[in-house]
Amino acid sequence: MNLVPTQDGTYTARSDMFDECYHSTRDGALKESLKKHVEPAFSLIDPSKERVNILDICFGLGYNTLTTLHYLEKEKLQKKVHIVSPEFDESLVRSLPDFPYPDLFEKYRPVIAHIAAHGYYEDEHIRIDVPLGDARDFLRSSDMRFDIVYQDAFSPKKNPLLWTKEYFTELTSRLSDEAIITTYSSATPVRMGMVENGLFVYNPPSEGVRSGTIASPSQSLPLEPIDMALKKMRNPAAAPLHDKDFR
Ligand SMILES: C[S@@+](CC[C@H](N)C(=O)[O-])C[C@H]1O[C@@H](n2cnc3c(N)ncnc32)[C@H](O)[C@@H]1O
Repeated sequence: MNLVPTQDGTYTARSDMFDECYHSTRDGALKESLKKHVEPAFSLIDPSKERVNILDICFGLGYNTLTTLHYLEKEKLQKKVHIVSPEFDESLVRSLPDFPYPDLFEKYRPVIAHIAAHGYYEDEHIRIDVPLGDARDFLRSSDMRFDIVYQDAFSPKKNPLLWTKEYFTELTSRLSDEAIITTYSSATPVRMGMVENGLFVYNPPSEGVRSGTIASPSQSLPLEPIDMALKKMRNPAAAPLHDKDFR
């Protein structure tokens, strides 16, 4: 694995297949996970929810999933959490016990070891499933409803099929009514793919990390809404990505 150090002192890796790092080296792997995905998502869901289903697209090095475990423990949240994180790179998942994770994740070594060996982990509060295969096949075959989605695929340029309007159609069909989608992408075609599936898009609370987007079926999140109709008026050529252009 090509290890790459990041700004916050944690390591990410570079994918040969996608010619891209798994995380922003500027934001830092751990910081991106916490500030871009986990904290915003948990600050926006209904705090009284006792069961939370999370879709982590995709597992990669597992930072978003492990940061979620860390956050639940730090905030002493007594929720039952089920994380599903599809990943088609089986050899990557199998290799993760050797990854130089931050010290904060040391206590989750048994979790990573179990996922690497068996594809899942379970204890009293947490269930984690890492189905090996295509994320879109998973979406089509699943009957779960997700309260949180970490939309953390490689960039739309490198991995467009996880950012198209048709992808967001499949994703939207698996969301609960108040679901929160977090992503680092602020690209107009991505936001249009979300909006054309009936989602509302918002500027995230960005604490020292790159901007991104929060999307939700809910029109009343306590965030600054993004007026995509206005963007479309100013740039009539703007359009979502479509599967047919990448298959
Ligand atoms: C940017 S990385 C995810 C980083 C991860 N969230 C983390 O926190 O470490 C994107 C991952 O998506 C996987 N991937 C790309 N296309 C996929 C697909 N169609 N189905 C399943 N996994 C896919 C890649 O193998 C890679 O591990």
